[in-house]
Amino acid sequence: MLSFELTFMDFLLEHQERHGRTYHFLILMNSILNAAKRIQHYYLTGALRGNLGLAGCVNVQGENAMKLDQIANEVVKYYLSRSGRVIYAVSEEEEDLVSMNPSGRYFVYFDPMDGSSNIPHNLPVGFLFGIAKRNLEGPEDGHLRAGNEYIAAGMFVIPTGTFTIALKEAGCWRFHIDETMNYVKPTRLELPADRKSWELSFNSAHREYFSSGVRDWIERNEKKYQFRYLGALAGDFHRILTNGGLFLYPAIVNHPDPKKNYPNGKLRLMYEAAVVSFMCQEAGGSAVDEKGQPILSIKPSHQHQRTALYLGSKELVEEIAEVLKKQS
Ligand code: AHG
Ligand code: MN
Ligand code: MN
Repeated sequence: MLSFELTFMDFLLEHQERHGRTYHFLILMNSILNAAKRIQHYYLTGALRGNLGLAGCVNVQGENAMKLDQIANEVVKYYLSRSGRVIYAVSEEEEDLVSMNPSGRYFVYFDPMDGSSNIPHNLPVGFLFGIAKRNLEGPEDGHLRAGNEYIAAGMFVIPTGTFTIALKEAGCWRFHIDETMNYVKPTRLELPADRKSWELSFNSAHREYFSSGVRDWIERNEKKYQFRYLGALAGDFHRILTNGGLFLYPAIVNHPDPKKNYPNGKLRLMYEAAVVSFMCQEAGGSAVDEKGQPILSIKPSHQHQRTALYLGSKELVEEIAEVLKKQS
């Protein structure tokens, strides 16, 4: 017997038709899929073509850019712009707002390659994106949107071949790449209630630099769960979405070299933290910042704004939020 799996595009067409939506979002998503497949190709052939190394320059975050950070950024910009549906994009790799089509309906926030330290090893990286919609009727509005205004957010784990997307109030779904380069077989994700599979995920080398409340919470809880850390938010969050638990990237406040402190956290709000928090919420979880406030309620004042991030199963996020609220 032949078997045929539902593709992501089948799934989305049906969803849009059921809700009487326009085709614009489909066109945008088609361009995002094209970009992801193209990045996947460059990643898989990176070692052969000499594309795994450093680009020889520093990006807007003051970090050494890798060739693949730049390739992925060019790929995403090309496809978003080609869709004709994006007015402005925000990229981790671009200091300024990227102007696209003046009549575009959407803002797209993206990290074209997340987890760059995995690149030289060909280990998992991510392409993360969040989408908000312009206020087409009212007065012109800006791109600095809180996560709770996103209409969709997703991530591709590359080269693993998974695509996870959350659609506003319609759940969080995972697809797997097949031999025809289609993402197929939608599975709805719900964080598991059973603590048996829960995991903690954070850079343990930094624990002494976290606030005392967070350090104490970790000490009280770390023996209860498995510990996993890949060093790429996309991959670490991928595990949490399936197994449950807590991903933490706390503020770094006690580093002996004050230049290495990140009092506002390291991760970027618009194209990292809000993207995964939106997905997590649609899967029944939640996320807060260093003050214990919901990540999705933060209205950014700058497109590259950073935030601390505590993300995952509701009970654990609520527990640590109490600690964070008390100490702030
Ligand atoms: P990017 O590669 O886009 O700069 O992001 C890397 C981020 C994120 O993916 C990951 O969770 C975190 O940096 C890891 O940081 P540490 O190396 O400090 O643990
Ligand atoms: Mn990143
Ligand atoms: Mn990146």
